[in-house]
Amino acid sequence: MELLGNHILSIDQFERPDIEKIFSTSDLLLPYAKRERITRVLKGAILSNMFFEPSTRTRISFGSAFNILGGEVRETTGIEATSLAKGESLYDTSRVLSGYSDIIVMRHHEAGSVNEFAEASRVPVINGGDGDNEHPSQALLDLYTIEKELKSKNKTIDGLRIALIGDLKNGRAVHSLCKVLCLFDNVTINLISPEKLGLPSSIKDSFDDSSVKFHETNDIKKGISDVDIIYMTRIQEERFSDKAESSKYKGLMSLNQDIYTKNCEPNTIIMHPLPRDSRPDANELDPDLNQNPNLAIYRQTDNGLLIRMALFALVLGIESKLEDSASDVIWYSNK
Ligand code: CP
Repeated sequence: MELLGNHILSIDQFERPDIEKIFSTSDLLLPYAKRERITRVLKGAILSNMFFEPSTRTRISFGSAFNILGGEVRETTGIEATSLAKGESLYDTSRVLSGYSDIIVMRHHEAGSVNEFAEASRVPVINGGDGDNEHPSQALLDLYTIEKELKSKNKTIDGLRIALIGDLKNGRAVHSLCKVLCLFDNVTINLISPEKLGLPSSIKDSFDDSSVKFHETNDIKKGISDVDIIYMTRIQEERFSDKAESSKYKGLMSLNQDIYTKNCEPNTIIMHPLPRDSRPDANELDPDLNQNPNLAIYRQTDNGLLIRMALFALVLGIESKLEDSASDVIWYSNK
């Protein structure tokens, strides 16, 4: 797809060459993300970073990515801080904000809401997560991380064996990741979840026209024994109308160093889109894994900055102009 000037709403928009372009642009941006070089290529541009649902990583990394490229960020957190709380429609909100901005990132609790917002927008809109539907930039950063982690072990995404664990029903990061893995050859996915939190059939249907083979189980020890990557997820309690219902599933799918050592192949990579739920009743990814060199969760979050810089660069068409206004960093930095 042509990224220039376009919305990014679903991972379905991308083919393999598009993903390769995003990844090669991310590689080019590394000196800026590592604060070795500064560029002001987006000087004068404004991002509206509209997060109508809680976020740490996605909001701050999109904002930082725009700032690193030289642009300015205006943002909102939560519906109650906006006129949506007074009954304003997404249509009006979008028409107004797109007059103030060059690009908009939006997150909202309703599936499909970002598409509705984008239809009314006069500038490109990037989906920062819409309900239990999709999280395309998360899938791109996950895939970029998978590629880098596998490369260090002389493997490729073609042939990947991955275990997706936890709330596969409500986890939008998992939904987008499953769809993008369909673009690759000979991928095997072990779907590990409590029975009632399995991957929706609409996502499983996307495997039909691909070479993805999938297996479903609720036995975590069995499901993690023959994979390259474990991808843990949190029980998405915000998607349950009854909080007591969500608490029934917490703690059922947990990984710690002991389970990892006894069941996994050596050097199995551990990922998680984060946030992990570190409360004692959940704790799906135990802190005793923090020193495990195969825990890739912070490499994953660092990669999010690069991928989001690349999306801005490609949508706004400045990927070949980065060095025009660049200089070396002069402040102390130990990144
Ligand atoms: N992975 C992710 O979307 O994290 P945040 O909810 O903190 O943005």
